[in-house]
Amino acid sequence: MVSPGAERAGFHPLTVSGVEQLTDDSVAVTFAVPPELHEAYRHLPGQHLALRRTDRRGEDVRRTYSICAPASPPGEPPVLRVGIRRVDGGAFSTYALKELAVGDLVDVMEPRGRFTLAPRPGHFAAIVGGSGITPVLSIAATLLAREPEARFCLIRSDRTEASTMFLDEVADLKDRHPDRFQLVTVLSREEQQSGLPSGRLDQERLSALLPALLPVGTIEGWFLCGPFGLVQGAERALRGLGVDRARVHQEIFHVDDGSTPVGAPAADAPAHATLTATLHGRSGSWPVDRGETLLDTVLRARADAPYACKGGVCGTCRAFLVGGEVRMDRNFALEPEETEAGYVLACQSHPVTPDVELDFDR
Ligand code: FES
Repeated sequence: MVSPGAERAGFHPLTVSGVEQLTDDSVAVTFAVPPELHEAYRHLPGQHLALRRTDRRGEDVRRTYSICAPASPPGEPPVLRVGIRRVDGGAFSTYALKELAVGDLVDVMEPRGRFTLAPRPGHFAAIVGGSGITPVLSIAATLLAREPEARFCLIRSDRTEASTMFLDEVADLKDRHPDRFQLVTVLSREEQQSGLPSGRLDQERLSALLPALLPVGTIEGWFLCGPFGLVQGAERALRGLGVDRARVHQEIFHVDDGSTPVGAPAADAPAHATLTATLHGRSGSWPVDRGETLLDTVLRARADAPYACKGGVCGTCRAFLVGGEVRMDRNFALEPEETEAGYVLACQSHPVTPDVELDFDR
């Protein structure tokens, strides 16, 4: 079912044109894009889509899923194919695996995200875990197809071969670009033929493995994607190997670090605060209720405010802080350069000053 007001929030109802089983617990879903929306859905490699549905209790359920298809060259229609892995108790992923069928209409937000790589010459690498392969598949396939002077090393980890998403697509990349694509697979619960022992890819293991595989110091860009623990371990390993932070890009899929905010107002919260926000060219001012996030303040008046995870992970609610000060509960989406430039996550922000101004259009 398509929700009212969806298009103003960057959503359009798109028809499912394919549902393909990848593993026991994952599917690839393809959406048909009508010609008048081709430009709106032209994505950069590595971007994601927010999908939304109204569940049986009438609640708005949103989740973001990365696009696995390579970016289409200019003039060709975009291919919108996302990978969805079932999460225990996941409201959207369970629906996608059990019910979603060709011909269904789904509210799909226009592509977003800054975990991207514009094709250019150089040697790049990715360290991914589980469904973290999804955006990296798009990044590697686009890079290798468009830039003959580029090389890519993919280090992926999963539990078993049977649980590994996009096995065929990754094997196809290896066949097409045998000299420029390096693949290293580490399975945590299964013996493998590569000679690498099974077990988790953690900081210690990566610190030893990476220099043996790659000229670490000459890699132009590192793309880390997957569960929080893996991305954090990889980031620490790279830091320990002297890699410049500016060359490391991260996208976290699941966070379970116990830092979920409790919702109580912090000691630095003013007794009364007012938020002014600009969204889709229109501005408004509203009082902020004690303890609520600035996203929730906007949503009370403007249903078109952008969000997906409400957990500080996807970055969909990014806004520019024009005035005042805020405190964020957590941030797994914005790079340090973005926070330094003045961007915040509205779903994690609380006012520190009595007046705060956000611009969602910048
Ligand atoms: S809605 Fe996902 S980070 Fe705010």
